[in-house]
Formats: sequence, structure tokens, C-alpha cells
Amino acid sequence: MRKFNGRFVILVLMGMNIYNNYAQGYKMDTPIMGWSSWNTYRVDINEALIKKQTDAMVYNGFKKVGYQFVNIDDGFFGWRDEKGQLHSHPERFPNGMKVLADYIHSKGLKAGIYSEAGANTCGSIWDSDKNGIGVGLYGFEHQDASLFFNEWGYDFIKIDYCGAGQQLELDEKERYKEIVNAIREVSSRNISLNICRWAYPGTWVKNYARSWRISEDISPNWESVKHIISKNLYLSAFAGEGHYNDMDMLEIGRGLSEVEEETHFGMWCIMCSPLLIGCDLTTIPEKSMDLLKNKELIAINQDPLGLQAYVVQHKGDGYVLVKDLETRQGTKRAVALYNPSGKWCSFSVPLETLELAGVAEIRDLVRRKNQGIVKDVIEYDVEPHGVKILCVNAEKRLERVVYEAEQAYLNDFDDLAKRSRSVAFMPFEDASGGMTVCNLGGHKKNYAEWNDVYSKKGGRYEMKVFYVPAEKKQYSVIDHKIEVSVNGERFSFSNLEKERSKGVMSVAFEIDLKPGYNVIRIGSRYTWSPDIDCFTLKPIHQD
Ligand code: GLA
Repeated sequence: MRKFNGRFVILVLMGMNIYNNYAQGYKMDTPIMGWSSWNTYRVDINEALIKKQTDAMVYNGFKKVGYQFVNIDDGFFGWRDEKGQLHSHPERFPNGMKVLADYIHSKGLKAGIYSEAGANTCGSIWDSDKNGIGVGLYGFEHQDASLFFNEWGYDFIKIDYCGAGQQLELDEKERYKEIVNAIREVSSRNISLNICRWAYPGTWVKNYARSWRISEDISPNWESVKHIISKNLYLSAFAGEGHYNDMDMLEIGRGLSEVEEETHFGMWCIMCSPLLIGCDLTTIPEKSMDLLKNKELIAINQDPLGLQAYVVQHKGDGYVLVKDLETRQGTKRAVALYNPSGKWCSFSVPLETLELAGVAEIRDLVRRKNQGIVKDVIEYDVEPHGVKILCVNAEKRLERVVYEAEQAYLNDFDDLAKRSRSVAFMPFEDASGGMTVCNLGGHKKNYAEWNDVYSKKGGRYEMKVFYVPAEKKQYSVIDHKIEVSVNGERFSFSNLEKERSKGVMSVAFEIDLKPGYNVIRIGSRYTWSPDIDCFTLKPIHQD
């Protein structure tokens, strides 16, 4: 009996443990935060400099608010010896790279390193760094991975694609797969891996990297910041679950105006980009430092849901982006009113566009000030190049009505511009949000997917798909078929409008949604589909 009791107690304790783990939830990796050497120093780095920046991360209080990584970018390479062993730069890093990783770790921080998928580094091509020749991972995947992670002890790696793309013409997916498999074989540690291909590389990337660059290199000017935001506006569905679109290292503290710095940081935060400071931390201006340490902005970047905000309104010059905070389908949401233009922009955002209703409390997260309470609509004038980043906490959450094509996960999407006809975002003035998705279909994997179609109670809905007939002259195939799948149940429409001049057209039908999340896909398995604008859902009340 006693024995039984003992076992029972153990089982109960084990059960409680499982329950606790479950209740606490699985903790997802949030975007990494830290500092990287590239923006300010390019290849001109050395041991003393990295140590100084590490110290400054701590004494300036960055570590306290969550900045954790000290990342050494290009410039540390020395040469590869006859055994294939990689060496650090003899003058810049005479004591090797392990001492630096140890130093960074001794401060309670994490250490990042850099390499190249091909043989020759970007620095060897763009910065005349002769030491960058033959030091990339090509042919040395296992050997270098073991050196970086087992011997030197680094926790992060950024893997570039200069030599690989320009000199070897390798296939991105195959090449990164090879490298990542080698890393996984030599180290069981949770290495944070960043793929740097200067464009969204394709949906395969989530299996191999924690983050991936979506644009060319950032520079410390407004045009560059604006361009990168524009590249990321419609990529929210490709991020998530601990994997992020990387908008590149921050240019804060390097000459942007105060407003532009706020927009830069605010948008990187709400779009859930990694936050890697790129300025000299020993001379950073006070204002820039305060901004980078704004805990309320950092909190929306490090929110446990790990979501990237998506565009829900685009009127005139202004974009409105939104994402859930803390709880999915809750009443608390982060909102950005983003004005990329050179003129003031007036925003008027109905609460229902944010899927919210009732009375809403508004807080300005850049100013860290409550803005009072609104009903029905949020209104602000936003200055040129400016943004309002708000936390909106409302009484009620509404079900979403409009699902834009440009918010969808496009299964066959990449931004590499290598194929003659690939699925892409296509502006169309009369489309909702001014944007459509073109070139869906052609084969069964080329679909748009919304995996977060939420219905509280489930039931019957009218679904209306809005599309723009394809340009007839452009292709020999006439693109007028749409296939919709709702949780796997298929609906086909083949007699759609063929005249593009008619503008946005629609087709409506009834579907059943289950309570909770549903998956809706649009594509066409054998022919191309017309350009898709959006779909709407309206519950059909059956009394
Ligand atoms: C590329 C990357 C940059 C930087 C340099 C290093 O250009 O995009 O971020 O790492 O290489 O040479």
C-alpha cells in the first residue's frame, strides 16, 4: 500500500510538472537583440574594439533591457592553412577568436560570428579584403562549423552569399541546406542562424534559419530605411513561430533625424525584426540611446507571440499595421500609423478595421504616454517620415472580415527574381489596400494560404473572393480559374470574368467554418488564376 502511495505521489508530481510546462507554454525564440560590427566599422575591426563595444553594451544599460548578442561581422578572417584550418586575422585578432567569445560570455552576453556560403567573402569582393579569399564555408562546412561552435564557442552565425552567388552560382536552397545540416551534425547547441541573401529567399528558409535578410544592405539615410520597410510590408505570413524577417542592422545613432530614428526603431519593433544596433556604443547620442532602450517598444518586438504586424489599411500615403499582443484574438493590439511620405498624413482608422470594438484605451509607445480613450475611430496627423506606434486595448475583439491576398502565406514565393513567371505582389489601384497577388496557380503547390481564419463559434459563412481578371495579351494561357479550399474541402470556379478592364470582380459562395482556426487556400492546380485582391467572410445567421 505504501509502495503504491509512493508511486502515486511520484506520478502526481510528474503530472504536475507536465501540467506546469504545458501551462507555462513552450517558449519560442524571440528576435535576437544585440550589437553588430558591420555598419560602423565594415572590415576594419579588431579585438580591442570588440571588447570595448561589449563593455559599452553593459555599462550603457543595453544588456539590462534585453540586448544580448555581440556579433562580429566580416573582417576577422586571416587565412586557411594546408589542413584546411581557418585562422583569424594576424594583426586584427592576434589572439584568435576564442578569447573574444570567452570575453563576451564572461559579461553574460552571447557571441556571434560571420561566414560565407561560397569560398570568397563579401569583404573580398566589395572591401578589397584579400584575407577574405578562400575562407568561406565552401568545402569546409563541417570543419568550420566545429571550429566556430565547438572550439571557439560562438552562439550565432550570419551566413552571407557573395562568393556563392557571384562566383559559384550555387542554388540557395541546396547550399544552405548543406551548411545547416553540417552545423547540426557537429553541434547540438541551439545556434541562432541568419541567412543573408538580400531578398526573401523562399519558403524553405524557415526550416534552416532563425532569421533571414529580406533586402539589400541598409545605409544611414531615410531612403534606405523606407525601402526596407516597403520590402517587408507584405511578408508577415512568412515569419512567426520563432523565425523572423531580418530588416538588417539598425542605423540609429548614425545621423538620421530624430523622427526618422523613431520610425526606424518603431517599425523594426512592430515588424518583429532582429534588433542589432550598428553604431559605436561608446559615443552614441543620448536620444538614440533612450530610443533603443525604450522598454515598451522592445516589448512589442519581444512579445511572446512572435508575430509580425500586417497592413490593414493603405490610404493615400499612410499605412496602418497591426498585430496581436500577448494573446491571439485578444483585445490588446499593437498598431503602427506609418507615413513614409515627405508630407503630413492624416490617419482615420475605424476600430473595426483593427478588429476591435467598444471603448479603447490608447497608449503612445514611442512617447510612453497614455492618449486617453476613443470610441469608433482613431485619428492622428503624422509628420513626414513619421510613425505613431500605439498599444490599443479595447473592450471587444471582432472577427476579421477582410483577408487580403497580400497578407497570405504564398507557398511558392521567393523574391530572388530568377524565374520568368513567379507568384508576386502586384499593385492595382482599385484593389483593397491597393495591392493584389498575381501568378498564383499553374501547379498545385502555388497557392495562397491563410491559416488563421478565425471563427469563434464556427458555422456557415458567405465567402466572397475578389479578383482582377488577368491581362489576356500577356500570356497564352487564359487565366480565369480559381480553386478555393476550406479546411481541405474544394470549391472551383472556372467561368470567371476575362476582361481586365472590368477591374475588381467577385465570386460568392457559402462555406462552413469550424470553431477556432481554419485554413483557407486559393490557387489553381492546372491553370493560372487571375490576380487575387482579397476575400471577405460574413456569417450567415440561421435562425
Ligand atoms: C554583405 C552583407 C552585410 C555585411 C557584408 C560583409 O554585404 O549584406 O550585412 O555582412 O556583406 O562584407
